[in-house]
Amino acid sequence: MSKHRIECSVNGEPCCMEVPARRLLSDFLRDDLHLTGTKRGCETGVCGACSVLLDGEAVKSCLLLAVQVQGRALTTIEGLAGGHGLDQLHPLQQSFMQCGGLQCGYCTPGFILAACDLLGRNSHPSADDVRHGLNGNLCRCTGYTQIVESVLMAAEKMHGN
Ligand code: FES
Ligand code: FES
Repeated sequence: MSKHRIECSVNGEPCCMEVPARRLLSDFLRDDLHLTGTKRGCETGVCGACSVLLDGEAVKSCLLLAVQVQGRALTTIEGLAGGHGLDQLHPLQQSFMQCGGLQCGYCTPGFILAACDLLGRNSHPSADDVRHGLNGNLCRCTGYTQIVESVLMAAEKMHGN
């Protein structure tokens, strides 16, 4: 299979690599860059576990090829925190911890990145806005109530009332 050189930004760092033409973005992130916070779930675009930010917009990385990120900026869950301490976590990460917005945690990176996109477009969402905005992400454990609460708490932390 032919290989293509891609140059992009990943979590603020330049990235340059040769990839096979049909390499999925999710496989590129996990297997080539070892950013395993991006999860493989359904691999058919249904569950949202593989969500990342592409130029600030949440996308499902199992539905994109790595070559499609040429010249663009990716953010994965590994790039969201400001540092390693708990106080350096992104407000969404803090709120998911405080509200118990996760159990097994498998869906959590995808939910947090999708919520990041949502709060970038709507700084004061209602609970219905959050439910609607995250309807492309599935969780098998939590029942969603705490996930919605987590996002509302993060909105308050980030933007006040
Ligand atoms: S693994 Fe990509 S949407 Fe499920
Ligand atoms: S916390 Fe387990 S799938 Fe969501």
